[in-house]
Formats: sequence, C-alpha cells, structure tokens
Amino acid sequence: MRLSCHVNGERRCADEVAAHESLLFVLRERFGLPGSKNACEQGECGSCTVYLDGVLACACLVPAGQARGRKVVTVEGLGDDGELDLVQRAFVEAGAVQCGFCTPGFVVAAHDLVRRGYRPTDEQIREALAGNLCRCTGYEKIIDAVRLAAERWWPDGAGEPDEAGGG
Ligand code: FES
Ligand code: FES
Repeated sequence: MRLSCHVNGERRCADEVAAHESLLFVLRERFGLPGSKNACEQGECGSCTVYLDGVLACACLVPAGQARGRKVVTVEGLGDDGELDLVQRAFVEAGAVQCGFCTPGFVVAAHDLVRRGYRPTDEQIREALAGNLCRCTGYEKIIDAVRLAAERWWPDGAGEPDEAGGG
C-alpha cells in the first residue's frame, strides 16, 4: 500500500508499506526519523511516543495504514530550525537524560502536559508520564525537568488545568 501523511510539517510518502508495518517502523526505517525509539513494541514503555493528530500515541501500536492523511509529530519535530524546544532544553539542563533511550518518549509526553496551560503539580507530572518507563534516572530528574519546562512555558504562574488531555 502507498502511505501518505504529514510528518513534522512535511508531506511524506512511502510505497509498498506492508499491512504489518507499524507507524514506528515507517518513521524510523522509511522516513529516516530515528528519534522515536523502539524498546518494547508492545505499548508498554512509551519510548515511541508521538503526536498523531495532536494526541499522544505509541507509534509501535499504530498500524502504519492508520496514519494515512494524518499529522504526525515526532520528537524531531518539536524544535524549530534545528534548535531544541523548551521541553528538550529543560531535560538537558535538569540532567534528566542518562542513556537517553527513553528520553524522546518522555519529552513528547511532557510536551503534551506542559503545553496545556498550567504548571502541573508533581503528582500531575507523575500521572501524565505514567506510561513512560526509564531504567536509569529514578524519575526525579525527569520530574524536575518537566517542572522547569512548565515554569518557563508559563512564566506568569499557574492557571487552572483545562480539560484533561489538552489540545
Ligand atoms: S516501543 Fe512503543 S511503547 Fe515501547
Ligand atoms: S535515561 Fe536510560 S532509560 Fe531513561
């Protein structure tokens, strides 16, 4: 099958995509975007987290055909002009990256939380990132990174949470 979708703002196409191929496989192996990681392929680790039409998805669980005509944003698509985005920078500055394998998934999931319009509590951060696993950091520095990102994204302080799931 031929797959056409928008990835990080660009129209991308792939031919002869097999029915068993996942969106994660297509992103990494056909579109040359290795940022989304392949750790479990079972929807359990979150390392392959991307936005699919603005909603978080585990790309390993999405059959590639389901992405046809849709908008995908990967960790590579968060920053502008090769610059790290605010959440990515916060992960680096907070020392939330060790081996880095989990980091792209955490960054995309954290981005989805931070963009919602309020500074989340630590509990809200833990809840939002519950689907992402890290073997290295013990999570504290990841929480610090998300808190830092939210402080910078919303410098005027915390608002009230809007509806869960964000935009
Ligand atoms: S590789 Fe997709 S959730 Fe683990
Ligand atoms: S930094 Fe190594 S798994 Fe998270």
